[in-house]
Amino acid sequence: MKVTHSLFTLSAIAAALSLATNVTAKETVHHNQHSKMTAEKLATKLVKEMTINERLSLLVGPGYGVDGTNALKSVSGTAGYINGVLNSDSGIDLPAAVLSDGPAGIRIDPTRDDDSATYYATGFPVGTLLASTWDPKLVKKIGKAVGQEAYAYGVDFWLAPGMNIQRDPLNGRNFEYFSEDPLVTAKIAEAEIDGVQSQGVGVTIKHFVANNSETNRMNVDNIISPRALREIYLRGFEDTVENADPWALMTSYNKVNGTYTSQRYDLITQILRGEWGFSGLVMSDWYAGDSAVAQTKAGNDLIQPGGTNLVSGEAQLSALEAAYEAGELDEKVITANAIHIVTQMIKTPSYARVTPSNTPDLDAHATLSKEVAEAGMVLLKNNGSALPIASGTNVASFGIAQYTTRKGGTGSGDVNSDHVIDIADGLASQFTVDSTLQSLYSTWYTNNRTTESDSLGVSTTYYCDELSLTDAQISQAAEDDDIAVISISRVAGEGNDRTATEGDYLLSEDESNLISQVSTAFHEKDKKVVVVLNIPGVIDTASWRDNVDAILLAYMPGQEAGYAIADILSGETNPSGKLAQTFPMDYQDVPSASSFAGVDTDGDGTIDTNYYDDGILVGYRYYTTNDVEVAYPFGYGLSYTKFAYSHPVVQLNSVGNKGKKGHLKLKVTVANTGDTAGQEVAQVYISAPQNGLTKPRYELKAFAKTHTLRPGGKQTLHFTIPTRWLASFDAANHQWVVASGMYKAYISPSSDVSDIAPLTFRVKKAVIIPATEGALDLPAGIQTNATGGILVP
Ligand code: BGC
Repeated sequence: MKVTHSLFTLSAIAAALSLATNVTAKETVHHNQHSKMTAEKLATKLVKEMTINERLSLLVGPGYGVDGTNALKSVSGTAGYINGVLNSDSGIDLPAAVLSDGPAGIRIDPTRDDDSATYYATGFPVGTLLASTWDPKLVKKIGKAVGQEAYAYGVDFWLAPGMNIQRDPLNGRNFEYFSEDPLVTAKIAEAEIDGVQSQGVGVTIKHFVANNSETNRMNVDNIISPRALREIYLRGFEDTVENADPWALMTSYNKVNGTYTSQRYDLITQILRGEWGFSGLVMSDWYAGDSAVAQTKAGNDLIQPGGTNLVSGEAQLSALEAAYEAGELDEKVITANAIHIVTQMIKTPSYARVTPSNTPDLDAHATLSKEVAEAGMVLLKNNGSALPIASGTNVASFGIAQYTTRKGGTGSGDVNSDHVIDIADGLASQFTVDSTLQSLYSTWYTNNRTTESDSLGVSTTYYCDELSLTDAQISQAAEDDDIAVISISRVAGEGNDRTATEGDYLLSEDESNLISQVSTAFHEKDKKVVVVLNIPGVIDTASWRDNVDAILLAYMPGQEAGYAIADILSGETNPSGKLAQTFPMDYQDVPSASSFAGVDTDGDGTIDTNYYDDGILVGYRYYTTNDVEVAYPFGYGLSYTKFAYSHPVVQLNSVGNKGKKGHLKLKVTVANTGDTAGQEVAQVYISAPQNGLTKPRYELKAFAKTHTLRPGGKQTLHFTIPTRWLASFDAANHQWVVASGMYKAYISPSSDVSDIAPLTFRVKKAVIIPATEGALDLPAGIQTNATGGILVP
């Protein structure tokens, strides 16, 4: 291609966009409000001015740990760059863009060589806790804060949020994800994205799609019915693309139905772009897939981190260049992908030549981190009003987790915060903590802790065995103190799945003994026992919960962990979080328990294939449809006050009247009937007529959280359900269908709707929404059951 010098150079584009050096965040935001069309037009013009090699260089990252071409700054500890282009002939001066993880904050190195300044970021609560707030407005604030930190540190794209469905409790990365349900996933993600992108920084929703386990994650082939993909695994991404306009999306490591997701044209080009209208850039996960050419042709615009693919050994840029030279990679494809990338790059702070301030407001964000941590903790049990514990009470604090407190998980989801408040410090800030026990624990911890790196070498974690106390020591505490608090923690992280064994899904023997010993001693004295769970996700509770009076599920609550936990225990904050995932009675009850995390089909000793035999019956969809008893249902969470629901009404029903555009509107009044101020989350579950498709008994279709209601206070909550959320996927006819007929709606405090009288409404005319024929089809010979579960061959 002949390179002509054009008047329409990047600097002209910059001028056209009113950009200048040292542009403020506000100005960049303003710039980002330019229509998509403008950015795309400018990008198109620009890409057309580039040589073919420049275009190709945009499609592959510079390599891990290498600054991108034309990087204006080097941000230590970022995950990667998008190469820029600098060409004095054409006048093109496109700076490299900086990419950082995600999702619990901005992951960069806290210190830099030959630099005395520090670059700590706020450790926010993990994704699962954010979802448990059921409070998009609050989550948007987290997004804004993350966006501000990214902007301050010179980061252009945040590699988050993680939007995979929590199919099985043992997925090692569940903590990074939101929920077992696509609606919660979508609404929380959209709020966070709005917040981040309001600051002029892009998000990268990930991992598209069905990255629901870590075992052999770079190669596992997930065999999933098109119906389960559409209704469960893709649905949250789809809604988010429609409503939040994410700048970027990351494809996943795994294969789906035989092909790497990053190499699937039907997934990326036909569904994501074609059906959903995604206009952002698509990047691969780090070293994913095995063919740069296949990725490029599929529409995976950007290959990360670039250089040589560690798994396949392929030098990716050379592979693309060779394919182009050989006529196997069309210039049109290269150009289209480059335009997708540049359209987003020209929105970034790097493009606007923003000088990083490197001074985010860490104090304000610490306050926000704590506020959100408290809003997402879930009170699972509170017998005999064990909680709240009056401030100043004598507390006996047990469990080494009060020192090994986990702010978040390991791997790329870790954040380098400048502090973590452990549970011991948190309790001491509100209560009179038993000093004898305290010194036993702290001495034990100091003498026995070990430091380990995670399997990727990204995070360093402290471990320490549980301290065995004698019966006499525990009895003394029961004598001296008013209440026992036992803390239990778990670590999880990228690269490994969890196990259904003692010390992970089950309590370790030491933890079980501790709970029994402490409960016996304190109950003998008529004193209460509280357990705090500082964990990444679901663990067994059914086997030990009867021994204790209260259980606070704190998840991984970010850097202010201890203070946030103490605020809930003391009643300074009334818990209002609810589960966005089910706690089953037994791991074996989990619908995917028999298939997770796959099988070794070729006998080489490595798991290679994961048959999704649970189909659309994931999480509560399975338990409620099959009447399987659970320990704590999806949507459940206690409060220190009580709420009553009244006047549930279907206010408007235009579903079926206006094609896709109709809506269902409902409302309910929630009153605080207890004597403490608090917030309540109400959920709308809808039971749809089967009409030829077997469906879950009911599914979550809307939710809303009250503001803080004082005792006696009331609020009317409004719910709007777009027609699209009422559709099921008819795989045989490759279309979405909202069936005609009678529907039931339960407005309920949790997914247990057994006490709720349903409202009814009728859809007079079915609504059909066509989808791409043949997309994501199962490999030949694979059959499914009526709810899209794979019949394992
Ligand atoms: C993870 C991604 C992450 C990327 C860059 C990968 O190993 O799967 O979630 O964004 O690394 O750090």
